[in-house]
Amino acid sequence: MKIIFDQYQIRDWQQSDIPSLAKYANNSNIAMNLRDGFPHPYGEKDAEAFIERTNALKHSTSFAITTNVEVIGGVGLALRQDIHRFSAEIGYWLAEPYWDRGIMTNAVRLVCDWAFTEFNLARIFAEPFSANLASIAVLRKCQFVHEGTSRKSAYKDSQFIDQEIFALVR
Ligand SMILES: CC(C)(COP(=O)(O)OP(=O)(O)OC[C@H]1O[C@@H](n2cnc3c(N)ncnc32)[C@H](O)[C@@H]1OP(=O)(O)O)[C@@H](O)C(=O)NCCC(=O)NCCS
Repeated sequence: MKIIFDQYQIRDWQQSDIPSLAKYANNSNIAMNLRDGFPHPYGEKDAEAFIERTNALKHSTSFAITTNVEVIGGVGLALRQDIHRFSAEIGYWLAEPYWDRGIMTNAVRLVCDWAFTEFNLARIFAEPFSANLASIAVLRKCQFVHEGTSRKSAYKDSQFIDQEIFALVR
C-alpha cells in the first residue's frame, strides 16, 4: 500500500529503512508508551529483525511513515480473530522531532479509512496508557470514542497502569 499526504508517505517497510528506523525508535519517550515487544534500547539488529518479520507476512499490516528521505515513524494494525475477526487494534509511534505537527492525526485517519475497506472491518480500537495524553488527543481528533478504562490492565516499568479504550466503528 502507499498513501501520500502533505510531504509524507505511508508505505511498506524496506530494508533501506533500517538506519532511520533504529535512529528514531531508540527513544525511551517512545518505548515508555508502547508494549514491551517494542525493544529498548532499539538497535539496527532490532530494526532488521522487525522489517524481516513484517515483510515475511502474506498481507502486511504494518507500515512506515516517511519523509522523502527517511522513516519517521510506524503505524500498524493487529487483526483480531474468531468472534473478533471484524476488529483490529491500531498502534503507532512517531520520531520525537516530528511531534505536535498533526502528522499522526493525519496518518491514523488515513490508515483507518483504508483499513475499514481493505480488511472489511467493523471496528478499529486502541488502548493507550491513561497518562498518554498525546495519543488520546490523536484518537479523539480522529473521531474515536472513549469506551472506558481498563484499570491496572498493563504492567509497564514495574508498575500497574490503566489503559483507556477508544474505538471507531463503521
Ligand atoms: C502519540 C504520538 C504518535 C502523537 O503523534 P503526533 O504527530 O505528535 O500527534 P499530533 O500532532 O497529530 O497530535 C498530538 C496532539 O496531542 C497534544 N499533546 C501533546 N502532548 C500533550 C500533553 N502532554 N498533554 C496534552 N496534550 C498533548 C497536542 O497538542 C496535539 O493535540 P492538538 O492538535 O489538539 O493540539 C507521538 O507523541 C508518539 O509517537 N508518542 C510515543 C509513542 C506512542 O505514544 N504511541 C501511541 C501508543 S497508544
